Amino acid sequence: MKPIIAPSILAADFANIQSEIEMLNQSQAEWIHIDVMDGLFVPNISFGFPILEAVHKHATKTLDVHLMIADPGRYITQFKNAGADVITVHAEACTHMHRNIQQIKDLGVKAGVALNPHTPIQVLENVIEELDLVLIMSVNPGFGGQKFIQNTYRKVKETKQLIEAAGSKTLIEIDGGVNQENAAMLLQSGADVLVAGSFVFSSPDPIKTISSLKEVVY
Ligand code: DX5
Ligand code: ZN
Repeated sequence: MKPIIAPSILAADFANIQSEIEMLNQSQAEWIHIDVMDGLFVPNISFGFPILEAVHKHATKTLDVHLMIADPGRYITQFKNAGADVITVHAEACTHMHRNIQQIKDLGVKAGVALNPHTPIQVLENVIEELDLVLIMSVNPGFGGQKFIQNTYRKVKETKQLIEAAGSKTLIEIDGGVNQENAAMLLQSGADVLVAGSFVFSSPDPIKTISSLKEVVY
């Protein structure tokens, strides 16, 4: 199966957000990845509701919201109201992860949990059947343009096994340092969704770059 491509607008030109979104609308990307950072859970601040609302106004694609924020249960309803179709919270940021997943699902939004590079996949053992998405961080969250961590392949395989053992339809999303070189092996390992920020937006022809990721042979 072909992967879902989710360009991360963290690497987009915010002064021209409308034209960036219109470009993505024309591309083969099915999702648009929205990185929300609070300066507490991660050492960076990106943007919040007004930018998501602006993206929502123009986007014809699924809005995939990655919350890198402490205690995300506080804001789930607001992110849904701002236009989120998928909401992913970090396992490390949730004291009551099961409750937060239910909160998301009760709003009719797809629910994901993200894992930092140091977090073992086993923390999802008791919730995997509830999840629409597992997001495996292939860099430490907080910044675009970082180097891909090689251990990710092994972790994706483990995640796939956990999902299959549970008989669940959960998708596996990879986030951080994704490019043309590592895409094939990620898909072979079991990935379904590829996030790409700088690889897409720093390329001379983002639409073509998105197609080339979509068509990766594996
Ligand atoms: C990192 C973010 C990523 C980031 C990916 O904290 O979660 O989504 O935008 O950017 P690249 O593809 O440049 O690593
Ligand atoms: Zn992200």
